[in-house]
Amino acid sequence: MIVEIAKAKLNLALHVRARRSDGYHELETLFAFVADGDIVTVAPADADSFALAGPFAAVLGGEGDNLVTRAARGFREAFGGGAHAITLDKRLPVASGIGGGSADAAATLRALGRLHGVSLDALFPLADALGSDVPACLYGVTAIGRGRGEQLEPVPGLPGVPVLLVNPGVAVSTAEVFRRWDGVDRGPLPADPAAGRNDLEPPARAIAPVIGDVLDALAAQPGAGLVRMSGSGATCFALFDSDASRDAAADALSARGWWMLASNLS
Ligand code: C5P
Repeated sequence: MIVEIAKAKLNLALHVRARRSDGYHELETLFAFVADGDIVTVAPADADSFALAGPFAAVLGGEGDNLVTRAARGFREAFGGGAHAITLDKRLPVASGIGGGSADAAATLRALGRLHGVSLDALFPLADALGSDVPACLYGVTAIGRGRGEQLEPVPGLPGVPVLLVNPGVAVSTAEVFRRWDGVDRGPLPADPAAGRNDLEPPARAIAPVIGDVLDALAAQPGAGLVRMSGSGATCFALFDSDASRDAAADALSARGWWMLASNLS
């Protein structure tokens, strides 16, 4: 049996540069990954099966078609490998800007690749076809993403940096947030992500104003450095100067009833 962590994805900065004619947007983003996430297990079996568990299993809605089963189907069509029993322990909130389904699909491809000797590079076209964030999640390393996010340039990361993820429990549609982007190109990604932006934050806040409360609450925590929304939201994150200040922030915010994940960058 193969176990793969579908690490939560963060966009340390996300600059939307242009609307494309194919319905997507041209991005410059700095992807980073958190040490924790969903957990995908894959084992060879006599017949295909898929089981969901974990705190967000119910939100995902049944055990039918999803990015994990689509990834497994794509792998079978491209590489064979027979039937598999797959389980997804769904610990990350759904539709929340931290990869979620993309990370699950990527973890499924990685697990199948390990079982059947298929390299990450060979899995890239499958990942690319499953979604804009799936290639970044496939490699799971800090990288600049361009194009719709699939053109990846690995860069040095910030491994071990303490991070707190906070989601106020509002699912926002990625397509809807991109649709509400105002079309203004505010310039390229700077070398220091802290000097950058998330251009999807204003449209996401227009849909879910509580995102502003989360950002304010994180910025007020002692030891918090970079505070930003990830992806199309609604999950926000803060990087901290120590595990202790991150944990103190989690304690201080616990009464708000928001979902939180205290972890470290990977
Ligand atoms: O690629 P994926 O299916 O994850 O994207 C979901 C939606 O997000 C797309 O249908 C599109 O509306 C929007 N999107 C975009 N530009 C990107 C990535 C996603 O407009 N670079």
